[in-house]
Amino acid sequence: MTTTTAIVLAAGQGTRMKSQRAKVLFELAGRPMLHHVLDAAFEAGASRAVVVVGFDGEAVTASLARYGDKVQTVVQAERRGTGHAVGCALPALDARDELAMILCGDTPLVRAAELGALAGSLAGVPDVSLAMLTCRVADPTGYGRILRDASGRVTAIREHRDASETERAIDEVNPAMYLARTSFLREAVAKLEPNNAQGELYFTDVVAQAAKKGGAVAVPAPDASALVGINDRGQLFAAEEVLFERVAERHRSEGVTVRGGARIDVSVTIEPDATIEQAVVLRGATTIGAGARIDVGSVLTDVRVGAGATVLPYSVATKSSIGESAQVGPFSHVRPESEICDSAHIGNFVETKKTIVRRGAKANHLAYLGDGDIGEGANVGAGTIFCNYDGFKKHRTEIGAGAFIGSDSQLVAPIKIGVGAYVATGTTVTMDVPDDALAIARLKQENKLGYASRLKARLKAAAKPKDDAAKKA
Ligand code: UD1
Ligand code: CA
Repeated sequence: MTTTTAIVLAAGQGTRMKSQRAKVLFELAGRPMLHHVLDAAFEAGASRAVVVVGFDGEAVTASLARYGDKVQTVVQAERRGTGHAVGCALPALDARDELAMILCGDTPLVRAAELGALAGSLAGVPDVSLAMLTCRVADPTGYGRILRDASGRVTAIREHRDASETERAIDEVNPAMYLARTSFLREAVAKLEPNNAQGELYFTDVVAQAAKKGGAVAVPAPDASALVGINDRGQLFAAEEVLFERVAERHRSEGVTVRGGARIDVSVTIEPDATIEQAVVLRGATTIGAGARIDVGSVLTDVRVGAGATVLPYSVATKSSIGESAQVGPFSHVRPESEICDSAHIGNFVETKKTIVRRGAKANHLAYLGDGDIGEGANVGAGTIFCNYDGFKKHRTEIGAGAFIGSDSQLVAPIKIGVGAYVATGTTVTMDVPDDALAIARLKQENKLGYASRLKARLKAAAKPKDDAAKKA
């Protein structure tokens, strides 16, 4: 089998982004621009990639760790043009690499479909040394134009700045995605000269060399919009919208209801019959189980949601899990390392952090549950606070299965509430409560009969003279 290595050019700064960060590191749908390009290249059959870095190169290299050995970087210390950049990558290719797919790191919309068409184009034509995608655009300004001879064969690419008026009228352009035989590349790149308006080594000049040798094949791409390069934040925004819609469409085709305005990262997985409502944001390693419903405006980052679970509107969950048939929200805040188990309920204005809410347990209203373990079927009343922090250290609260925590209780951690125990409403619990015990700590109530109207009269009288004084003044 032919081995193809991708060479991805990513040494540029991307001046128009007006950023300290390399352009190729800007994310779309949760993944850096450069990674979208690499993923498409691998899906189209490349077995390895060499990325040419320069500006912010260390950060670009660091971002590539997730690819392991499959991606290697080479540094282009001085930006002397696209031909020079490809030249920097060539020593990193294995002698056995037969083909090189040359791409730019700033075209995140390119798919395996487009690159696949390119990948097959050198098979069975041993004399042809190079193939490239071409497309037609309404406004070719800035692009290299594809020059063809009378019989329609590609002869060269002319850069916009170097083109004549007639050449500038050509609307078939170079999206800068090529496939070439590496033996040819080594020769051709060495021959490049900076005879052009920018005084750079243009990779595009390699095309004329290929045309003279055995021919250069143009592979027209039907959808030019998938080949666009990102130069500024406006284009970044537009491209990300396209990606979000592609992701939504993919899930819809797999049996997920995705309403308009949902933003789902490419890395998220969703099982059939789940419903993702309007304006939901699903990020990172989030997974949604079959039939689960994520309601309007919820934001889930690295969250595992079980089958049939319901996340009601405007809930925020991060690095946590929500079990099968569990219910969260509306307005819940599930902070990192929380585990809301199967059939458990977390209601409005309940915040959890590093807390496990075991099967069937409920905390339905207004609570802070930090550093805790809530036993199966326990009920945590409205206004309960786990007092987990003494100003220096965090402490744990443990609640036994089936326990009942009355409303407005404070559990001062470290503390243990036994199995089936009962904490009376308004209790500040400072001592462990044994299994099946009732804990109550509040002042005894006294009712003074007829005292209410007397009290009100006294208060009214006390307030009056002040009012009169104010009026006179
Ligand atoms: C290039 C093509 C042009 C094509 C256009 C498509 C050349 C000479 N021209 O033009 O025909 O229509 O892309 O967008 O190739 N880079 C390096 N090192 C360098 C120079 C560039 O890594 O020394 C990288 C850049 O970071 C960028 C890519 O190569 O990702 C393209 O370079 P750029 O200068 O933007 O080329 P264009 O002028 O857009
Ligand atoms: Ca460019």
